[in-house]
Amino acid sequence: MATAMRIHTHDVSGTPAGDLAADVRAGLDRAGQKELPSKYLYDEVGSALFEVICLLPEYGLSRAGARLLRRHADEMIERLPSPVAVAELGSGSGTKTRWILEALSRRQPVTYYPIDISRTALSRCWQELGRIDSVSVVGFERAYLDGLLDVASRRNAGERLLVLFLGSTIGNFDRPAGEQFLREVRHILHPGDALLLSTDLEKSVSQLLLAYDDTAGVTAAFNRNLLARINRELGADFDLNCFRHEARWNEAERRIEMHLVSTRRQTIYIRGAALKVNFIEDETIWTESSHKYRCDEAEGMGERAGFRCDAQWVDAEWPFAQSLFLAE
Ligand code: AVI
Repeated sequence: MATAMRIHTHDVSGTPAGDLAADVRAGLDRAGQKELPSKYLYDEVGSALFEVICLLPEYGLSRAGARLLRRHADEMIERLPSPVAVAELGSGSGTKTRWILEALSRRQPVTYYPIDISRTALSRCWQELGRIDSVSVVGFERAYLDGLLDVASRRNAGERLLVLFLGSTIGNFDRPAGEQFLREVRHILHPGDALLLSTDLEKSVSQLLLAYDDTAGVTAAFNRNLLARINRELGADFDLNCFRHEARWNEAERRIEMHLVSTRRQTIYIRGAALKVNFIEDETIWTESSHKYRCDEAEGMGERAGFRCDAQWVDAEWPFAQSLFLAE
C-alpha cells in the first residue's frame, strides 16, 4: 500500500514569553508556597532532558508503558470499531505510539493526528512515525483540547476516533483537574470513540524517590533547567548553584512532588517579569506533581467522566496501567 507522509502544523504561538512572565509573577510573587507550572519544564533543553530521563534505569515508567503497548497492541486494536483514526494528546516524540499504529495499519489505512504545543516534538514524531506503511501523519500544533476539537471536526463520516493519552501525563494534573480533563475529552467525542489512558501506579516510596531523583542527576538538571530557562527568556539572575533539586513523596495526596530548594537567603531579580523575589534558606519552589494511582482508581476516574472501561493491562515489572475506555 502507498505510504502517506505529511504533516500540517497550525499557526499558533505555543508558549509566548508574556505567559511565562505572568505565570512567574503569579507563582513567585506571593506569600506562602512558591510555585511554577510544570509545563514550563519543557523547553528545548527540558524536552531533551526528559527524553534522557525515560532512558534511566531508575525511571521505569516509560519502558512499562511501551512494554504494554508492544505486547498488547493487537488486543487493544481488536476491541475498536473500524475504521478508526488516532489522535494523540501530547505526542512528544511519538516513539511509544508505533506499536498501536503498526497494529492498526495491518487492518486499515490510518490517519494519525499528534497534538502537541511543541513544533519540534511534532517534527520528531513525523520522523519517527511518518514512514510506517499506510499511516498518514497530520500534526496539530495546539493545546490538547483545542487540537482535539479540530481533529474531531475533520473526521470522515462514519470514522471513529481513538484518543491516546499516554505516559501518565494525567498524573501531572491534580486529581480533580485530571478527572475534569477526561470529562472535557469525553464531551468532544462521540459514542463509539475510545480513549487509551496511561496511569503510573503506586509502588514503594524508595523506588519512586529514586525515579524522581536519579543518581546521574538528570532529573535534577531537568528541574533546575526551569530556572535557567527563566534566566534565558526573562533575563533573571538565578544562580543555579544556590538551588538544589528535591523529590518528595506526599503521602496524603499520593504524589511525588518536585521542588527547587533555596540553599541560602537570597534575592532574585527577574527583569522580564518586573519582579524581585526574596527567598529564605530552605524555602522551595514547587515545580511539578506526579500523582500515582491504584488500579481501580483509573477505571473510576474514566467512568465518572462518562466512559466505560473496556479493558485494562497492567505491567508486572513496573506497576503501570493502560486502560481502554469506550465512549457510550
Ligand atoms: C511527563 N510526566 C508524566 C513525567 C512524570 O513522571 O511525571 C515528568 C517527569 N518529571 C520528572 N521525571 C519525569
